[in-house]
Amino acid sequence: MILECLKERTARLFWPVFYDLEPSHRFGTKLGLMQKLWPNMRRGFRMMRRTRCFKGREALSKAANMVGWHFQHRSQSESEFITKIVTEVSKRINLSLLHVADYPIGVESPVLEVTSLLGHGFEEGVSMVGIYGVGGIGKSTIACAVYNLIAFQFEGLCYLANIKESSSNHDLAQLQETLLDEILGEKDIKVGDVNRGIPIIKRRLHRKKVLLILDDVNKLKQLKVLAGGHDWFGSGSKVIITTRDKHLLNTHGVEKSYEVEQLNDEKLLNCLDGMPSKVTKLIQVMQIFQNRQFLMLMAFHWLWR
Ligand SMILES: Nc1ncnc2c1ncn2[C@@H]1O[C@H](COP(=O)(O)OP(=O)(O)OP(=O)(O)O)[C@@H](O)[C@H]1O
Ligand SMILES: [Mg+2]
Repeated sequence: MILECLKERTARLFWPVFYDLEPSHRFGTKLGLMQKLWPNMRRGFRMMRRTRCFKGREALSKAANMVGWHFQHRSQSESEFITKIVTEVSKRINLSLLHVADYPIGVESPVLEVTSLLGHGFEEGVSMVGIYGVGGIGKSTIACAVYNLIAFQFEGLCYLANIKESSSNHDLAQLQETLLDEILGEKDIKVGDVNRGIPIIKRRLHRKKVLLILDDVNKLKQLKVLAGGHDWFGSGSKVIITTRDKHLLNTHGVEKSYEVEQLNDEKLLNCLDGMPSKVTKLIQVMQIFQNRQFLMLMAFHWLWR
């Protein structure tokens, strides 16, 4: 049931605790591990077989394959182990989140689509997803909302905003430094030069599960020096790239992408339906359609008719 919830909503953290099991058990047969994990597992399995509850078995094998905590009686005390878990959980609960928009409208559905492209966390390896669309359509807004939703699942976080302003080697090296600072939580990491920065990022981050947002990218070089390959980051890491240029994503080998489209009338009306007052609606319409007077007029017309 826990794993079912995890599938439906990405905003769930699931950490199995391998209590006094040799690490090799984790990679042995799933059935063997599960029988060790839970003393009544054999009975559980018999029951599952009887009730043809294959879903349950599938869920347990998934749990057995997930990264979790490993406790060994001989090498550490139980209280230290629990303190470590509590510290890690509180780090993830007390995250500083990003501002999305004053009055976000219609963000939920694109956010869910992007998170589903990113995968639900069972996958190994690193997933990269692009968000593309014309200027001002809401790419960064969606990226911020996705960040807020899934940030707690990661060991390291980094949101690099407005990358398009940075194109010189010096600027890019500074971005590499910010990336390392934010993810490792260390102050004043100096890489000096982009080409020196690349191996440093790979060496320091290839075992870390990170969430990295590269916002408003407009040059291939920016991607090459900040997220050059899937092997740069640890398993389960996710990289989101926002750009106006879909071609850039293809060239960098980003296979999954989401196109942000303008809300059509029907979607807009659905979004506005649940809003509190006409004044709030007006503000929101003006925000969304800043430079699109025609759509703004249509929305005003609907509001005041
Ligand atoms: N769904 C939304 N609800 C409310 N406001 C939104 C929404 N989407 C975008 N906005 C607002 O529209 C403006 C532009 O959005 P955003 O910066 O996300 O666009 P963008 O596609 O990233 O643009 P650019 O290509 O210039 O980077 C912002 O002020 C943002 O708050
Ligand atoms: Mg943007």
